[in-house]
Amino acid sequence: MGCYQCHGYEGQGARPTGPRIAPEPLPFAVFSTWVRHPPEVMPAYSRDVRSEDKLERIHEYLISIPPPPDVSTLPALSEN
Ligand code: HEC
Repeated sequence: MGCYQCHGYEGQGARPTGPRIAPEPLPFAVFSTWVRHPPEVMPAYSRDVRSEDKLERIHEYLISIPPPPDVSTLPALSEN
């Protein structure tokens, strides 16, 4: 629904376009208020553009994204 263009397919974010929004997204009430009234650079999404139902589905998707593995479990990062 357009969010990926700045926040990535898994909400991982990208430094030049938008911050990480998953895993562990903001609570829905905060998330919804933010998307309706972003304070800075991000474009606002009114209810006509993204219904409350669609926002809930985006939020559920972000909740479903598992946390990344612990760095200590990644062999490539524990070799000297
Ligand atoms: C044009 C780029 C762009 C698009 C498209 C966009 N965002 Fe953002 N978003 C940003 C930027 C940049 C920020 C950081 C705050 C700022 O500068 O406005 C942000 C911040 C956020 C935050 C707050 C993150 C935090 O923890 O502080 C949430 C939540 C969010 N976006 C959700 C969404 C959702 C959901 C969509 C799709 C409906 C979306 N964004 C689409 C650029 C974008």
